[in-house]
Amino acid sequence: MTSYLVTGATGTLGHLATQALQTLDPHADLVALARPGADTDALVASGVLVRRGDYDDPASLRAACDGIDRVLLVSSPVLDSATRSRQHLAVLDAVAAAGTRHLVYTSALGSEHDPGHHRTERALTEGPTSYTILRNGLYTEPFVARARWEATTTGVVRSATYGHPVRTASVRDLAMAAARALANPVPGTTLDLNGPGWTYDALARELADRLGRPVHHESVDEAGLGPFGPVHALFRAGLLAQPPDELSRLIGRPPLTVVDVLAAGSG
Ligand SMILES: NC(=O)c1ccc[n+]([C@@H]2O[C@H](COP(=O)([O-])OP(=O)(O)OC[C@H]3O[C@@H](n4cnc5c(N)ncnc54)[C@H](OP(=O)(O)O)[C@@H]3O)[C@@H](O)[C@H]2O)c1
Repeated sequence: MTSYLVTGATGTLGHLATQALQTLDPHADLVALARPGADTDALVASGVLVRRGDYDDPASLRAACDGIDRVLLVSSPVLDSATRSRQHLAVLDAVAAAGTRHLVYTSALGSEHDPGHHRTERALTEGPTSYTILRNGLYTEPFVARARWEATTTGVVRSATYGHPVRTASVRDLAMAAARALANPVPGTTLDLNGPGWTYDALARELADRLGRPVHHESVDEAGLGPFGPVHALFRAGLLAQPPDELSRLIGRPPLTVVDVLAAGSG
């Protein structure tokens, strides 16, 4: 029987990945790493064991990894690169000390420009542990949620894409991909995981149909989009545009589209 440890299991991606693992390997020992004090009721109710630990507490990570065959390291949400890579490297040290057989790491598309992810990827490729690096695309859900809110409140969906296509991936597909990479490890692989392309014009048309009221898309300066603005500049520059093939192969079906996410109400 295989034992798995999933970090970030109280968060969106990690929780979905534990659910996916339970269907892929129902007889496995599934352990969630949760910070002291984090609410784990839902995990425990679904039969997941909980070990307490914190990326900032190496001793807790070593204890959590004891006897574990495979680990899903969900990247830390901390934005500061030095802190983030220090946290990730603490997990890698704990995994190596425990003799864990395989680790799956959720990196990001464009990781070469992100020192936190880049250092973690290098430590993995140069380190002793068998690994899979999943370079996740941006989640579709926050873009859909924002567009739905704008459509409902003003009838105008704003972007700074000026007609350029966008590529994002549903967090549900990314979680399934992580679970599959863990359940059927292919050592030494790095995959770019992205979803199908879409445009804001098409999303506005879809929202108009669903809401039964006029909705149109307006391109604006990215400064008017708050924290979303810089990402729209990347879309316009044709970055983060990797095709969905590797995600599709890993999950064994076409990835969810922006319309699927809208219809599921998960965005
Ligand atoms: N691709 C994208 O668009 C996108 C978007 C957002 C984030 N991300 C990245 O992908 C990761 C997963 O996304 P998500 O949506 O699942 O994020 P999330 O819901 O914010 O979950 C983050 C998880 O990390 C845990 N965590 C935070 N600090 C920790 C620490 N010091 N030690 C141990 N665990 C810690 C949190 O635990 P608590 O419950 O205790 O806080 C939570 O379980 C994020 O952490 C971030 O690196 C990607």
